[in-house]
Amino acid sequence: YGAGMTGEYVAAIDQGTTSSRCIVFDRAGEIVAVAQREHRQIFPRPGWVEHDAAEIWTNVEQVVRDALAEAGTGPEGLAAVGITNQRETTVVWDRVTGRPVANAVVWQDTRTGPLLRELATSYGEERLRERTGLTLATYFAGPKLSWLLDDVDGLRGRAERGEVLFGTMDSWLIWNLTGRHVTDVTNASRTMLMSLETLDWDRELLDALRIPAAMLPQIRSSAEVYGTAHGVLAGVPVASALGDQQAALFGQTCFQPGEAKCTYGTGSFLLLNTGASPVPSSHGLLTTVAYRIDGQPAAYALEGAIAVTGSLVQWLRDNLGLISSAAEIEELAATVDDNGGCYVVPAFSGLFAPHWRQDARGVIAGLTGYITKGHLARAALEASAWQTREVVDAMNADSDVALRRLRVDGGMTANGLLMQVLADVLAVPVVRSRITETTCLGAAYAAGLAVGFWPDLATLRAQWRSDAQWESRMDPAHRERELGRWRKAVARTLDWVD
Ligand code: G3P
Repeated sequence: YGAGMTGEYVAAIDQGTTSSRCIVFDRAGEIVAVAQREHRQIFPRPGWVEHDAAEIWTNVEQVVRDALAEAGTGPEGLAAVGITNQRETTVVWDRVTGRPVANAVVWQDTRTGPLLRELATSYGEERLRERTGLTLATYFAGPKLSWLLDDVDGLRGRAERGEVLFGTMDSWLIWNLTGRHVTDVTNASRTMLMSLETLDWDRELLDALRIPAAMLPQIRSSAEVYGTAHGVLAGVPVASALGDQQAALFGQTCFQPGEAKCTYGTGSFLLLNTGASPVPSSHGLLTTVAYRIDGQPAAYALEGAIAVTGSLVQWLRDNLGLISSAAEIEELAATVDDNGGCYVVPAFSGLFAPHWRQDARGVIAGLTGYITKGHLARAALEASAWQTREVVDAMNADSDVALRRLRVDGGMTANGLLMQVLADVLAVPVVRSRITETTCLGAAYAAGLAVGFWPDLATLRAQWRSDAQWESRMDPAHRERELGRWRKAVARTLDWVD
């Protein structure tokens, strides 16, 4: 890895779906300072979700300032900064003014449905899966970019002339920090524009989606110095970029094939390290790049992506007013012994893995006069667990080896009731890492490796600790009965949108 740096800390910026945060870590991987800011969720129509990338950049600058102040250091105290981000969210900006040309189209947004139906005919679903590891879903960036190029007057022409640039949030931040237009392989693997084999933009896919190559960032490894920051981080090497789920896998130090983690954020994402070659899925999972350290071959992963888990709790808070803070859900759910026969399937953006049904919309099933808000809260938590169960079943089927325990992290893992329910429905132990901010930790680790702040993966591995473990206590017959009801509820979400 690169030459050693002098700073005593490494910072990570996590640009997430609902907020941006900056965390400063010391050499032992301990948190020294944290700052966080939420940004606006813009819902112009049902199924559409947008962010203002300029607002996000302002928030990022602010959280960096706040975290440095809390750590009692300036940029000179940092050996490097790493970037991690909500994946697939699509930004286009003007190369000269640096202004976004439109709101960013968020990964949860379903507006590209019709475009994907065209792509199914013109390109073919199987061919797409072989080339990119992805399924034909509204989730990914390329079709969102194509939609913007069609929608914003004159944009395609400007893109062809190289006047506007495309990026996912990693590119947007690195460009603002350093002036370089780059992305990393993990983020690029979520665009539907990169070949999993060459790890480069794919001519045929660019043509199929009518995307000018001139607007694309250069694809780099996940751990290398992309440039030196100016502004709030003046002089600091920007030395890693990883999609947030891949960063969490890295932060959980799942470096060996067969190791898996699930992160509970707005959505939940289970990633299994499959080693040096991509493993195709036949059970509704995605094949994706896990990470690539500069000068080394890429590591791949199988991923079970669940669109809505934590954001269901937010919805209960913001849209229904059932609770006043997300943490209250645990208390409310604990007021009842079971779900009372009620099931919530939060198909807000259609259903992701393993179903991939963009025509699905959410349901609350099994309502009777008996149901209280306690039951609803409980059913909402159980929804996270059952959705995880579905992707674990798919993972087991795809990899032929049953998962024996699950490493978990992310904000929702503070919820002990949810962790118990998760162990109950998975019927395997659930192990929480001591640092639940593994997304930031992974980005910091990759950046620290790139500049020689940490010597190797083994050192990072030795720093991993768990702080709690939950075992299944559910009677198997009861589990099967509940699974059957969950499946019936899922079936009721389908065929809703024409
Ligand atoms: O693919 C979407 C994922 O990267 C979003 O993560 O934690 O911002 O919900 P999060």
